[in-house]
Order: sequence, then C-alpha cells, then structure tokens
Amino acid sequence: MNTRPNLVQLLARQAGRAGLLLLAAGVVVILLRPTDAAWWAARVLGLAALLTMAAALALRPTPDRPRRHNLLGWAALAALLGHIGVVAGLQPVFWRWLTWAVPVEIVTGFLAVAAFAAALAAQRPGRLRDRLGPILGHRVHRFAGYVLAAAAAAHIALVAGISVVAVVVILAGLAFLVVEGIFRERHGVALAATLALLTTAVAALSIAPLAGPRLEALRRSPVDHANFLHSDHPGLACAGCHHNFTDQTGNENCLTCHKRISTIEAMRIDRMFHAFCGECHRADKHAGKEFGPIDDCNGCHAKQAEGEKDARRAAQ
Ligand code: HEC
Ligand code: HEC
Ligand code: HEC
Ligand code: HEC
Repeated sequence: MNTRPNLVQLLARQAGRAGLLLLAAGVVVILLRPTDAAWWAARVLGLAALLTMAAALALRPTPDRPRRHNLLGWAALAALLGHIGVVAGLQPVFWRWLTWAVPVEIVTGFLAVAAFAAALAAQRPGRLRDRLGPILGHRVHRFAGYVLAAAAAAHIALVAGISVVAVVVILAGLAFLVVEGIFRERHGVALAATLALLTTAVAALSIAPLAGPRLEALRRSPVDHANFLHSDHPGLACAGCHHNFTDQTGNENCLTCHKRISTIEAMRIDRMFHAFCGECHRADKHAGKEFGPIDDCNGCHAKQAEGEKDARRAAQ
C-alpha cells in the first residue's frame, strides 16, 4: 500500500496552516486599531478564542503530539467563556440585543457557542457520545469544529468597527481552513453542504420575510439617546452630523427618523449609529486628540441616574 501522503493531502495540510497564518495576521490588524481601555479584555479574549480554536482545527492530534490539540481546545473554551463573561457581565446593554431584532453578528456569535457545545458533547464521554458511537461522534466533533471556526470568524468580521483589511484577511483565512477540511474530510461534500446551509440560514435573517419581524421589534423599542450631548461635541460643523439640514430629509431627531426609515437589515439603527459615533471617536483617538467612547458599550449606554441625565441635558 502506498503510505506516502498524496498531493491532495499535502496541499490540504498546507492550506490549514496558511489559513491559521492569515487569521493570525487578521488578529494583528485588529489589535492595532484603537479601542477603549475598558474594551481591551473583551477584544483580547474574543480574538484568543478564535486563534486557539483555529489552531486546534489545523493541528490535529498526531501519534507524537497527542495532547497539543486537547490543550488548544480547552484554552479556546476558557477564552470563549471569558469573552462572554466580560461582555454579558460587565455591559448590561448587551442583554437588550436578545430580542427578535438580534443583529446577525450576534447570531453568528451564538452559533459559535452552540457549535462549541456540540463539539464538546460529541467528544467527551457521556450520553450523546454513547448514542453516536465513536466514529460518528468523532465526525460530529470535527464538523462542529469547522462550523465553530466559520461562525467565530464571521462574528468577528461582522462586528462594528473592524477595518476592511481585517475582514478580508480573516475571511481569506477562514476560506483556507474550510478548503483544508473539504479535502481532508472523508465526507468533504457533506461538510461543504453543512457550511453552505448555515451560511444561507444566517443570511436569510437579513432579508425578507425573516427580517420583517426582527425590524418591527427594533422599531418598537424606545429610543435610547445613548448619552449624546452637544456640549461634548463643541466646534463641529452641524451639517457634518445633521445631513438632514442639507439634504432636506426633514428636521426631526436623528434616531426617531432613522428608526422609521430603516427597512433593511443594513440600515439597522444600532449598527449604523455605532459606526457613525464610534468611528469618529476612534479616528480622534488614533490622531491623539480628545475622543469619546469607541467600543465600550457603557461609555454611551451607561444607565445614568435619570435625574443626572436630565440635568446634563437641561444644562446644554
Ligand atoms: C457630532 C454630531 C453632531 C453635531 C456636530 C451636531 N449635532 Fe445636533 N444632534 C446630533 C445627534 C446625534 C442628535 C440626537 C441626539 C439625541 O437624540 O440624543 C442631535 C440633535 C439635535 C437637535 C434636536 C433634534 C430633536 O428634535 O430632537 C437639534 C435642534 C440639533 N441637534 C441641532 C444642532 C445644531 C444647530 C448643530 C450645530 C451647531 C448641531 N446640532 C451639531 C448630532 C450632532
Ligand atoms: C428625517 C429623517 C432623517 C433624519 C432626521 C436624519 N437622517 Fe440620517 N439618513 C436618513 C436617510 C433617509 C438616509 C439614507 C438611508 C439610505 O442610504 O438608505 C440617512 C443616512 C444616514 C447615514 C448614512 C448611513 C449609511 O451607512 O449609509 C448616516 C451616518 C446618518 N444618516 C446619520 C444621521 C444623524 C447623525 C442624524 C442626526 C444628526 C440623522 N442621520 C438624521 C434620514 C434621516
Ligand atoms: C465628528 C466626530 C464625532 C461624532 C460623529 C461623534 N462624536 Fe462623540 N465625541 C467627539 C469628540 C471629539 C469628543 C471628545 C470631546 C472632549 O472630550 O473634548 C466626543 C465625546 C463624546 C462623549 C463624552 C465622553 C466623556 O468623556 O464624557 C460621548 C458620551 C459621546 N461623544 C457620544 C457620542 C455619540 C452617542 C455619538 C453619535 C450619536 C457621537 N458621540 C458622535 C467626536 C464625535
Ligand atoms: C459611541 C457610542 C456607542 C457605543 C460605544 C455603543 N453604542 Fe449602542 N447605540 C449607540 C447609539 C447612538 C444608538 C442608537 C440609539 C437608539 O437605537 O435608540 C445605539 C443603539 C444600540 C442598541 C439598539 C437600541 C434599541 O433598542 O433600539 C443596542 C441594543 C445597543 N446600542 C447595544 C450596544 C452594545 C451591546 C454596545 C457595546 C458592544 C454598544 N451599544 C456600544 C451608541 C453607542
């Protein structure tokens, strides 16, 4: 029997490593982007989870290194739990996302968590493992690994405030990882079909008819003025923010009008305003000037005592 790895296997292995390198490069690009001091823990833990799980996928257990894969898997779990703990625990506004209007980028985050749970349950001794048996259990473990990497990469590529370069590099890294999986898995076609199906399901959340109920929920939620005060923004041209003053779209409040007009997912009020407010603050921080909150939810959404907020508004 021919024991030498054939060309396809060799290419597949290199594709996995190339994917890992690209993901690492994407992570470096993100780390170079300014953010708030309070957001660094969430960012670093999330990126560490992506890299360790992608490394576990690309570096499978071999007879001479049986434990490396397991260690990477446990490290990824620790980083993922830390990331969720920091965001959901320290940023209360996070829970407001859990409505029918949950943004697609958060859906991909939950998909990653579900895939992690499936990968773990299929591999650890237990009821699911017993029912599936070792061979099928192992296959579920590997498939869940690919779904996990894809969902995590999509989550990071979609969250507000990430540069185009980082998005392209991360998605290219993911593509290499998936290509290696399709070549390497005996059921490569089934893997490709699974990933395609999930991608379609997530994309469907952004278009009719599934987007309808989600947008309705978003419109019904009360306007959150997000601590915006003109007195924090002196000396800026009105029309720089108030495009409605120049394009004659009307003269009402930005948020109420935007809630009403937003008819497609791309115009979701939070994603659009997060980019509008946060990217100016990020550019100012980058330029070494005074800046406002960038990614730290509490910077804009902190629940101030209502009296204090009213007093700040009245003082303008
Ligand atoms: C940095 C962006 C920015 C700049 C610059 C800016 N605004 Fe605003 N303005 C906003 C935002 C955001 C709101 C909505 C705030 C809210 O609802 O909490 C707003 C609200 C208003 C409102 C209240 C609208 C309503 O009905 O609620 C008026 C009036 C207004 N701005 C006038 C001005 C004028 C005049 C200038 C120039 C001197 C100016 N703004 C400069 C961002 C800006
Ligand atoms: C009377 C309605 C109305 C008001 C008031 C209004 N906008 Fe808009 N805004 C629009 C419409 C309509 C568009 C174009 C939507 C599109 O391109 O699909 C738009 C587009 C934008 C965009 C570009 C979105 C993108 O990603 O292409 C930004 C940013 C924006 N508005 C910010 C603001 C801010 C900040 C205010 C208040 C200071 C404001 N808008 C007030 C209706 C309004
Ligand atoms: C055109 C640039 C620009 C835009 C757009 C902008 N900001 Fe700011 N923001 C600034 C600057 C500059 C400061 C710092 C002002 C200072 O401290 O002197 C600031 C400060 C702040 C602060 C105060 C932080 C503190 O330390 O008290 C808050 C809150 C804030 N911005 C919220 C928002 C929100 C919410 C939006 C979107 C509706 C927004 N900003 C849009 C430039 C911008
Ligand atoms: C730079 C300021 C800023 C930061 C930082 C920020 N937001 Fe926002 N956010 C806004 C503005 C402005 C809006 C639009 C106001 C609205 O929707 O009523 C908004 C809207 C939202 C909404 C939709 C509110 C609704 O029900 O319509 C949610 C949910 C939200 N943000 C969550 C978050 C989370 C979670 C974080 C941290 C990961 C965060 N925001 C960080 C400014 C900010």
